[in-house]
Amino acid sequence: MSLLKRIEQGQGGSSSGGQSSDAQGGGEGSRLSSLQARRVNAPITSPQAGSYFDLKVRVQNKLLSELDPSMDITRTDDVKRTIQDLFEQILAEENIVLSRPERARLFEQIAAEILGLGPLQPLLEDDTISEIMVNGPKNVYIERKGRLHRVPVTFENNDHVMRIIDRIVAPLGRRIDESSPYVDARLQDGSRVNAVIPPISLVGPVLTIRKFSRNPITIEQLIQFGSISSEAVQFLKACVEARLNILISGGTGSGKGSGKTTLLNVMSSFIPNDERILTIENAAELQLRQEHVVTLESRPPNIEGRGEITIRDLVINALRMRPERIIVGECRGGETLDMLQAMNTGHDGSMTTAHANTPRDSLARVETMCLMAGMDLPVRAIREQVSSAIDLVCQQERMRDGTRKVTTITEVSGMEGDVITMTDIFVFEHTGMENGKIVGRLRPTGLRPKFMDKIETAGINLPPSIFGIGERRRY
Ligand SMILES: Nc1ncnc2c1ncn2[C@@H]1O[C@H](COP(=O)(O)OP(=O)(O)OP(=O)(O)O)[C@@H](O)[C@H]1O
Ligand SMILES: [Mg+2]
Repeated sequence: MSLLKRIEQGQGGSSSGGQSSDAQGGGEGSRLSSLQARRVNAPITSPQAGSYFDLKVRVQNKLLSELDPSMDITRTDDVKRTIQDLFEQILAEENIVLSRPERARLFEQIAAEILGLGPLQPLLEDDTISEIMVNGPKNVYIERKGRLHRVPVTFENNDHVMRIIDRIVAPLGRRIDESSPYVDARLQDGSRVNAVIPPISLVGPVLTIRKFSRNPITIEQLIQFGSISSEAVQFLKACVEARLNILISGGTGSGKGSGKTTLLNVMSSFIPNDERILTIENAAELQLRQEHVVTLESRPPNIEGRGEITIRDLVINALRMRPERIIVGECRGGETLDMLQAMNTGHDGSMTTAHANTPRDSLARVETMCLMAGMDLPVRAIREQVSSAIDLVCQQERMRDGTRKVTTITEVSGMEGDVITMTDIFVFEHTGMENGKIVGRLRPTGLRPKFMDKIETAGINLPPSIFGIGERRRY
């Protein structure tokens, strides 16, 4: 995109100063303003208040008017240098005296407005932040180490947030407006973005960004965080190597990610390096280290509503690509049936995730999703497919204290009558609280899974102590 285009997109509100501008008019607008007025809007100090803000807008506008509009902004370093020169020049011409830190802060903010995502830029660059939530222009929250915090970052007004949303979605050929008021998108670095705007959102434009982690969480970290025990890891590694089909299920209770994708990423790392792996996702989040990996990503319909490629289309197509393992980022609908069929027809060792609160719920969810395929199959037939396809369910939860933990590892052992039988192999045992943190351990139940023969056939030897056999339990 050329600078001219970006400036045109950005100009809308940078000259409109600080007035608030709700996207609605009339009665709806006043309802929204009264709703917004009732919210805690400014107990947090805004760095962009008053004269500093005016100064920023003034310098920014002058800078934009003096920059060469044909400049290619993808050459970030060159553009930044040019902006820096002009910035110094303008400050000198206008006799604006600022301390060194003030000057640096003003420059960073202006550069972020022109080149980056405005007030969000520093949050995006901070690697300790895992999520960013913008609830209208004045309420910005982040997640750091599993905890939510409100941060002193504000936008000028609704228009300012809208401009940033447009800047994210426009290059992807997506659009957001009153007729399609929400959108999924992705930043260049792979971070996942969802935006919802009025009239659907009553608090102004809302943005949720799940940041792409440059350094994905490793298995060692999961153990260190207390998310899983090393015995359970040894067991899961053996299950992956022995090509069992695994469903990772994650709680939806808190409305936040329970860590399914992270666990899937870690479990995928156990796949031997010489296998052909196909990954299918809505937004490529998995970061596999193996050599032979093919990554496929679904595509939403374009502005005319055409060209959609669903996860289901990709799963069906994947079967013609000679995969040895199929990994589907998340099953949400009819693709689940195709995935089960793949698991049952020689593509064992496949893995996926689903939203559910317990292992048993996850199987019910899988059943419902299979029905979404619209094949008119009897429930009994689907249930048989489920029980023969899925070998193991790994349940992950975001706990009350903000930590994420594997809470149950359960074998899908077969069917009794119409009911799928399940056997817990590891269960999280909650023993108490310490400094606001949940204390407990993912304990083996003392039961060995029925599929041990598959693990042994693969030449893997798991000591019985992993399953708590021979271990004296302490109470
Ligand atoms: N065990 C863990 N300990 C600490 N943080 C974690 C853990 N697992 C995941 N996270 C962090 O939690 C956030 C959500 O993780 P993840 O994307 O894996 O969740 P998810 O269940 O796939 O979410 P969604 O349902 O939205 O796809 C990420 O920022 C991730 O880095
Ligand atoms: Mg996920």
